Amino acid sequence: MERFRDRVAVVTGAASGIGLALAERFAAEGMKVVMADIETAALDTAAAAVQAKASTVLAVRVDVSRAEDVERLARETYAAFGAAHLVCNNAGVAVIGAVHEHSLADWQWVMGVNLWGVIHGVRAFVPRMLAGGDEGHIVNTASMAGLTTAPFMSVYDVTKHGVVALSESMYKEFEATGAPIGVSVVCPGLIDTRIMRSSRNRPPELAEEGKPGPMAQAFGQGLADRLARGYAPSEVAEQVLRGIREKRFYVVPAQPEVRQWATVRAQDIIELRNPTSRR
Ligand SMILES: NC(=O)c1ccc[n+]([C@@H]2O[C@H](COP(=O)([O-])OP(=O)(O)OC[C@H]3O[C@@H](n4cnc5c(N)ncnc54)[C@H](O)[C@@H]3O)[C@@H](O)[C@H]2O)c1
Repeated sequence: MERFRDRVAVVTGAASGIGLALAERFAAEGMKVVMADIETAALDTAAAAVQAKASTVLAVRVDVSRAEDVERLARETYAAFGAAHLVCNNAGVAVIGAVHEHSLADWQWVMGVNLWGVIHGVRAFVPRMLAGGDEGHIVNTASMAGLTTAPFMSVYDVTKHGVVALSESMYKEFEATGAPIGVSVVCPGLIDTRIMRSSRNRPPELAEEGKPGPMAQAFGQGLADRLARGYAPSEVAEQVLRGIREKRFYVVPAQPEVRQWATVRAQDIIELRNPTSRR
């Protein structure tokens, strides 16, 4: 996709962090922006801020883990603007803990938002975009956690590896069928957002059932400290925009030392060596 002005961008998780930065960046390009999020008050504030920069904004309260919500998002987008050209499946949440200690609710919540959210986004928008026949682009937010693994991050890692796999498959399918839709997967490293406070949006029916063990908690604290010193979300948005323009699939706004772990993992696989632990 090369022309952005007056075209329609949809961003989930747009009330905060990377999603908000994407919405701001697309608005700055003159796009109409649909901002979707579960957190109503934050969404209203974010939408007003983007709208103030002379952009056309539609804010929609959506829980991306619910297929009917994402279907409604697509219906409202097409009712308002008649098209969607750029769809960013970005909403995401995180939990920390050991694989065998996570509750079913942990798995259901994070799989629901991070993986099902992307699946619902693709199923709701891609058929409409193909029927419209215009050029377009799908951007799925995964993570470096989709290219590597870490202890105490299993639930999150599983969802992000799923997002990378889904995105790679879709890229190959669009290439094979000659569809006019580009695909990018975004794999950020450490970004200064509110992700470590994800539980603010955790639904009561999937409430936390206990605290992680001491090693997992220490890992979580260390990660929170590193994220606070991470890149600004605007850096991710800038790289996403460039990636779309350049038709690049892997968009990896990650610190060199974080990116290195994808190389280490690939080398583990190539050499059939056991997984290398980070020190
Ligand atoms: N922060 C990082 O270092 C980092 C690194 C790699 C990947 N990511 C990914 O970036 C994406 C954005 O996260 P962020 O870091 O900006 O965090 P954030 O918490 O600042 O923003 C996430 C947004 O998603 C929304 N959200 C949560 N559950 C939702 C649901 N069920 N339906 C709709 N919206 C929902 C939240 O309200 C919030 O506005 C996520 O997919 C995350 O996994 C973040």
